[in-house]
Amino acid sequence: MAGRPILGIDDVVMEYASRDGPVTALERVSLAIVEGDFVCVVGPSGCGKTTLLRIIAGFVAPTRGEVRLDERRILGPDHQRGVVFQQPALYPWLTVQANVEFGPKMRGVPAGRRREVAEHYLRMVKLLDFRTKATWELSGGMQQRVAIARVLANDPRILLMDEPFGALDALTREHMQDELLRIWKETKKTVFFITHSVEEACYLGTRIVVMSPRPGRVLADVDAPFSRHASNGDSRAVKSSRDFVALRERVLELIWVE
Ligand SMILES: Nc1ncnc2c1ncn2[C@@H]1O[C@H](COP(=O)(O)OP(=O)(O)OP(=O)(O)O)[C@@H](O)[C@H]1O
Ligand SMILES: [Mg+2]
Repeated sequence: MAGRPILGIDDVVMEYASRDGPVTALERVSLAIVEGDFVCVVGPSGCGKTTLLRIIAGFVAPTRGEVRLDERRILGPDHQRGVVFQQPALYPWLTVQANVEFGPKMRGVPAGRRREVAEHYLRMVKLLDFRTKATWELSGGMQQRVAIARVLANDPRILLMDEPFGALDALTREHMQDELLRIWKETKKTVFFITHSVEEACYLGTRIVVMSPRPGRVLADVDAPFSRHASNGDSRAVKSSRDFVALRERVLELIWVE
């Protein structure tokens, strides 16, 4: 059930200048992402995952190749790509609600409408009751949910997430995985998600992109069925099932072999 193409990454090369000469972070990376995909990217530390995300976000330009969103070349950051980092990076001087309203406010959305939008997404991440709090009054998992609501309030075409649950404890992390799957299904957004956890990638992804050690190349692009199915709230049952373990081991092997 292939959707509409949304993001095209064509032959992207990224070289950074360093004192010892140029460092090639990415070597001819190509990917085609369709609407509604949940793409999980795994690979060893330093293989260029964050570099790729930063290029898609428009924070940096690739040395060669190009990235297109809806057939338009990405030339700089804008609200079409919403980025969620490992640390939530909320504005501490604003309330939870004002953080979520920030993007729409910058784009000139009238006050009444942006309040509606913020409340809609705060309800979606189950934090409506906390809307008048300061961000530092929330736990790490709650702050990450505000960060997700803040990005969704901009109605981006694609969510770019760089190890968003990497700083959370194991229990909160599993809970956030299920919350994100629920939000993904509810909003039908396309997601590009970097993680160090192969289990997390197999659980969340519709596709798992495995990258090689630096210079990063796409080693494998594997379909994963689990996130499209309902887990009935029992994620451990899914993660310990035979099919899931087989996929997890297959992906781990791809990473180890390199
Ligand atoms: N701004 C920069 N200037 C120079 N080199 C950089 C810069 N950013 C990243 N690099 C180098 O590019 C390579 C890829 O880095 P990147 O942060 O994309 O890796 P990563 O896969 O996200 O790693 P991790 O899993 O540890 O987050 C690394 O060798 C890194 O040292
Ligand atoms: Mg990184």
